[in-house]
Amino acid sequence: MCGIAGYVGKKQAAAILIDSLKRLEYRGYDSAGIAIAGDNGKITRKRCKGKISNLEKLIRGKNLKGTTAVGHTRWATHGCPSDENAHPHADCSGRTVIVHNGIIENHASLRSALSAAGHKFNSETDTEVIAHLLEDVLKSEKDFLKAVTSAASKLEGSYALGIINSDNPGELIAVRKDSPLVIGLSADGNFIASDVPAVLPYTKEVIYLEDGQSARIKKDSVEVFDSSLKKIKKKISKITWDPVTAEKQGYRHFMLKEIHEQQRAVQETLLGRINRGDSSVSFEDFNLTAKDFKKYKKIFMTACGTAYHACLVGKFLLEDGLKIPCEVDIASEFRYRNPPIDDTTLVITVSQSGETADTLAAMREAASKGAYTLTICNVLGSTMTREADGVIYTHAGPEIGVASTKAFTCQLAALYLLTVYFGRLRGSMPVKQAREMTEGLLKLPLKIKKFLDEQEQATEKISHNYFKKNDFLYIGRHVNYPLALEGALKLKETSYIHAEGYPSGEMKHGPIALVDEEMPIVAIVNKSFVYEKMLSNIQEIKARGGKIIAIATEGDTETAKIADDVIYIPEVPEILSPILTSIPVQLLAYYISLLRGCDIDQPRNLAKSVTVE
Ligand code: G6P
Repeated sequence: MCGIAGYVGKKQAAAILIDSLKRLEYRGYDSAGIAIAGDNGKITRKRCKGKISNLEKLIRGKNLKGTTAVGHTRWATHGCPSDENAHPHADCSGRTVIVHNGIIENHASLRSALSAAGHKFNSETDTEVIAHLLEDVLKSEKDFLKAVTSAASKLEGSYALGIINSDNPGELIAVRKDSPLVIGLSADGNFIASDVPAVLPYTKEVIYLEDGQSARIKKDSVEVFDSSLKKIKKKISKITWDPVTAEKQGYRHFMLKEIHEQQRAVQETLLGRINRGDSSVSFEDFNLTAKDFKKYKKIFMTACGTAYHACLVGKFLLEDGLKIPCEVDIASEFRYRNPPIDDTTLVITVSQSGETADTLAAMREAASKGAYTLTICNVLGSTMTREADGVIYTHAGPEIGVASTKAFTCQLAALYLLTVYFGRLRGSMPVKQAREMTEGLLKLPLKIKKFLDEQEQATEKISHNYFKKNDFLYIGRHVNYPLALEGALKLKETSYIHAEGYPSGEMKHGPIALVDEEMPIVAIVNKSFVYEKMLSNIQEIKARGGKIIAIATEGDTETAKIADDVIYIPEVPEILSPILTSIPVQLLAYYISLLRGCDIDQPRNLAKSVTVE
């Protein structure tokens, strides 16, 4: 997903912007560029396809001087990845330069009108129309900020924009609608960025720009305006993340580092929320009364990707604990299927970033129909957290690897807490059950550590037996069926191996036809009430020559007799097992991808935060 960065300050901008852009690499990108305004007002643009290292080579020795600049990492939407399509984009005169994250939906009609009026386009992007549009507006409107907001009012779609102009030196205008934008404040200058990690080495003080707001940023001032250009006072948020938490800390990849962070991340998500005295749960930012909750007759959960798999586990938990029907939908489907929602519906969105376009749209759709919206989210101040009626934060810390790991286990932890919270509120969950769940949850972080200490090497070794295979199946039942889906997703995302997840009971209805000695099957066979059924399933696979990698409970000798390889997880109540079974499926994907030489943290074609539809 595109990342934007900008700086106006006392220091030379080029090095700062390159550094900021590198910190946005995790969003996924295919080209990069910067534009710097020199002291004479002239703006120089340098852009290229590929990694930021290419851009660094391009600007090396060019003596790019200037203290006002914008930069961009592009994830192609309109026009292929190329030097010409890379941002920043300029108007015909080269005096107005723009970086953009989002999609301009009416770009085609704007482009033909501007072309007819004589504007010359140099790229296939939707973004370039904004630069030309602004060029026209600036002919009659000399106030830079007013001109930008007037041009923006003609745009349909989503945008976070950073704009500089030769006639307004030392000034950067930022505006947003449906795409994230933060402003960083420091004594040495001020910043804009798509996300906090880009500015963290320079400042811990940020302002979150809201939809429709714009900002005039200079080296020693930041002014924010509402949609009618009335100056407004914004809260300055203090970021508590340490910049080193956003670095790899000695691990070869962010994904591996984040897998190892799960003990702490889950612990922090549980922290302070469980009252062991009465086994109740409370949240800092979310509170419903029993009376309020009584009116909800149905729950919908909606999300994308890995977060959707967390919702699938959530369905088991909530229906069991609350005795209320709970439906789970992929957000891109939910938003268009006109689901039956009213003010007796509770809609839960789950999102690491809080910016995923489809999830956000699904949430807005639910809100417009009168539902109570609750979001489970990892990013403080993200759009979903600002718009939802209630927020439960996962405290996973920044997740950089594109393939989600620690955010997922923390989403699960939050869903367990939510189940107890609602279950007690509704009176549908006996204290005994709440106690078993909360006490079991509190033991999980240590079990995660035990698993990593004792089984990581074994998992790595097992990967050597399978990394050359072209197809995998993942199977599980009950709460571990979603984990089969998640295991398959992790493997395809990071290793590009074709993989599918199935509920084991479905094998006989089709997928078993695929089984032969070339087909590894990852089976989640932990001790549970469906254990015997899982044993039968893997026996059927074995009888057809399939290769079985079992994820079993330690001490299970029966599974070892059937499976080709076994990864053992510590004993855990079945309902809580998904947090533990997550780790071996993540590690398998990681080590198989490592052996295949894949770009693990930034898999091809994928983005960390998908802020377009
Ligand atoms: C992208 C990421 C996934 C993530 C999904 C939803 O596809 O690559 O890892 O699960 O978006 O993102 P969210 O931020 O809403 O959890």
